[in-house]
Amino acid sequence: MNTKKFDIYKIEEEVKRMHLEAAGEPQRKKLLEHFWNHHIVPVVAYSREMALRYGGDAEIIHLGALLHDMALIENAEPHDEIGAGKAYEFLIVHWAPPETAQKVRDIVLKHRCKLYIPETVEEKIVATADALAHFFPEFHGSGASIISGEDHVEMNVLDIERLEKEYSDKVFFEKEKELFKEVIKDFQKEFYI
Ligand SMILES: [Fe+2]
Repeated sequence: MNTKKFDIYKIEEEVKRMHLEAAGEPQRKKLLEHFWNHHIVPVVAYSREMALRYGGDAEIIHLGALLHDMALIENAEPHDEIGAGKAYEFLIVHWAPPETAQKVRDIVLKHRCKLYIPETVEEKIVATADALAHFFPEFHGSGASIISGEDHVEMNVLDIERLEKEYSDKVFFEKEKELFKEVIKDFQKEFYI
């Protein structure tokens, strides 16, 4: 019997493993583990929550959220363009239907809202969740601490401008803009110089 079939939970386990078992220096490994726990996992959770609110194909959204930054595992930039191709190949290898792989590829390609702008509800949801997840203090606080070795790290003004631009360019749903006003206020208190 052919047991090789598409299984989103096996894919999730595999993507987790790719983050937690990536080769590299101890600090790099620590950062990737942090990135999985405090970025990818929240983006998946928040994307799935928005899928309930705004519709779209929940499986495509889940996969797009899981894979949107997969090029960053190897530090490859531009990670939207490189990651789009990687996500497509990864899904085909894991027995995803080609039309699923194509839709996920487009989510990855457009999630930064740079050269390509999200059009479908699935693409908009992942871009929104990605932007908002950057504001969770845990992502910045402990991530910056791993890099600097200090307990508390203030952000420089360029980081702040970049995050504010993400918020204005990438949050496609009014309810999320409202919800996150409070999150952003806390973030400012915690990190702004
Ligand atoms: Fe991301």
